[in-house]
Amino acid sequence: MDYQREKLKKIFNQTQVLTVVGGNWGDEGKGKVIDLVMSEFDVIVRFSGGANAGHTVFTPDGKKLVSHLIPCGLAARKICVLGRGEFFNLELFLKELEDSRAVLQEDLAPVYVDFGSPLWTPYHALFESYIEGRRQGKIGTTSKGIGPLEGLYRLRLSPVVGMLFEPKILRRNLGILYDVLKPCLETMNEAVPTPDEIVSSLVARAEEIKSKVIDTGYFLQEQLQAGKKLMMEGAQATGLDAYWGTYPFVSSGNSAAGGAAVGTGLPPSVFDTAILVAKTLPTRVGNGPQPSEMWERLAAMEFPKAHPELFVKGKERDEFLSSMLAKINQGKADNVEMSQYFQVLGDERGATTGRGRSVGFLDIPWLQYAVRINRPKWLALTRFDMLSGIKTVPVVMQYKFQGEILPPGKLPPAWQLAEVETIKENWEGFEENIGGISEESKLPKIARDFISRLEKLVGVPILLVGTGPGRGDMVIRQV
Ligand code: IMP
Repeated sequence: MDYQREKLKKIFNQTQVLTVVGGNWGDEGKGKVIDLVMSEFDVIVRFSGGANAGHTVFTPDGKKLVSHLIPCGLAARKICVLGRGEFFNLELFLKELEDSRAVLQEDLAPVYVDFGSPLWTPYHALFESYIEGRRQGKIGTTSKGIGPLEGLYRLRLSPVVGMLFEPKILRRNLGILYDVLKPCLETMNEAVPTPDEIVSSLVARAEEIKSKVIDTGYFLQEQLQAGKKLMMEGAQATGLDAYWGTYPFVSSGNSAAGGAAVGTGLPPSVFDTAILVAKTLPTRVGNGPQPSEMWERLAAMEFPKAHPELFVKGKERDEFLSSMLAKINQGKADNVEMSQYFQVLGDERGATTGRGRSVGFLDIPWLQYAVRINRPKWLALTRFDMLSGIKTVPVVMQYKFQGEILPPGKLPPAWQLAEVETIKENWEGFEENIGGISEESKLPKIARDFISRLEKLVGVPILLVGTGPGRGDMVIRQV
């Protein structure tokens, strides 16, 4: 680990602001990348999303911390900032603080919240279930009120965090929100709290965060001037970005790299270095297109519930994996079976919702698009060990749309993305199990060639390669 630290020090020596964002549809393992690199930074900042995220990190002595709203920095005793672009839920925030204290068993590092962040109320949750109930093609949200938080804010109807300390303003704001939403809420078979009830329950706990509420943009500017290093912790991913993702099947924040400026109040010019975290086999939960997907979404999402025995360590799981791997290598497995194999192998289930994640083939055209949108300096390729033992690896090389091969970086409109035909090529795989390898030289030559070929096609050096679920299971490459 010390040897890895030395490497990281050199790599990030010149980086004052690092942005880590997801390249696919979330769940790329951003938490693991952040866990590795955050030692080099002083302040860890969230700039988008809200409680819909789920990042797992570890303390130096190995305690596991899952964060949803608070940046991952608590585990490493870093200053944590919830930027204005992050949607704030008071109750969940306080619960997360409490849980973190219980895990860490010590006083927490400072956590700051922006006074201008959109503030969650029960109306946001009710309105989300009202909207989802009326949609033909449901988004399949995480039910954290994310869409209404962003949408009602843009309509200038939402309360913000600072109003917690101005009950009259908060009450006025909630009154307007209630009036506007009333016709919808009245049609639902659910109890709807009055604005007064909401104000009193929010205000009752507001004092607990008073000392943490600041103008985060101003604070971050001061930190930069003091020479501190900032890490922007992306949540969700490029494919879920409200503008550059697969609209309408997106989350409602600016989760691509551009969102870091919008969500922190720092000028775009300070964001010069990004890492795009890309999953070797991309996954998706909820609805919406994922061009390289192996199996039908709903079936894949239900699979862990239908076969819980395969998702716990034991004989059944081991037998399933070894017989399926043999079948894949004999060329007898269909895409559904491949999907099941990788889902079980990678325990592809959501941290926030527990839903199964549907798995896709390595998808180069999608990554070329994500690279165009985020212009990362490096890629972090996670879960590369999932390919261990697969002799022939199908890789999506191009998209064909309405009879034409699309040039790199170009996508059709999101609502036609499901129509693209994926043009695949079989790449030579490696038979060795690369699980747990942390040195580049120990990777088999075929694996190294695989990575080099991929980075040429995507046009970005691959700095990090994930080789397993453990903390040290990551290769830091010479790039
Ligand atoms: P929302 O963010 O709850 O509005 O959900 C919108 C879409 O984004 C749904 O398809 C969710 O499954 C997806 N989504 C939101 N957050 C995450 C995440 O952290 N990982 C994976 N998918 C996510």
